[in-house]
Amino acid sequence: MVLVRPVQETDLPAVAAIYDEQVRNGISTFATEPPGVDHWRPRLALTRPGDHVLVAEREGDVVGYVYSGDYRPRPAYGRTRETSIYVAPEARGAGVGRALYDALLPALRADGMRVVVAVIAVPNPGSQALHHACGFRHAGTLHEVGHKFGRWIDTELWELLLA
Ligand SMILES: CC(C)(COP(=O)(O)OP(=O)(O)OC[C@H]1O[C@@H](n2cnc3c(N)ncnc32)[C@H](O)[C@@H]1OP(=O)(O)O)[C@@H](O)C(=O)NCCC(=O)NCCS
Repeated sequence: MVLVRPVQETDLPAVAAIYDEQVRNGISTFATEPPGVDHWRPRLALTRPGDHVLVAEREGDVVGYVYSGDYRPRPAYGRTRETSIYVAPEARGAGVGRALYDALLPALRADGMRVVVAVIAVPNPGSQALHHACGFRHAGTLHEVGHKFGRWIDTELWELLLA
């Protein structure tokens, strides 16, 4: 049973642990130094429509999170949001990512957002499948824009039109 709810300050160690693991071991983020808990506090302070941080709780533990924030900062991008979603390794493949998006996307729609963008570093079959299942479509690929673990990495742009 997964409960999805807005993040609280007390969730930040768990959120940071999930993200930091991917910084160290995955290509889903291009960060290379785990930023720890302090990285997350400014995001909790954002209150504009379209800015959300949600966590998934299973048996009392935070096992995943999703957030939506600026795609790009210029005002004309104001009704577009970029999302970022992470599930702890031991909780993947059990519907947690889907539950997070099932809560976030209606909230973005209710906020009047128009487009949701996800940037997927590939290969990442889990993220591609999740975004496809949630209605996103692959809108383009940027080649070799990342370099991590000694190799070049492509990113795919996935978009979902909410209107
Ligand atoms: C990508 C990620 C968030 C997916 O979350 P998840 O909780 O494992 O996904 P779910 O269990 O909700 O699965 C959602 C859909 O994707 C499919 N799926 C999940 N993992 C998959 C995999 N490795 N290969 C193929 N399909 C997969 C599921 O079958 C499901 O499809 P369905 O709804 O049609 O049945 C998770 O794997 C993760 O945190 N990965 C590391 C970080 C990352 O890559 N984040 C995304 C950055 S863009």
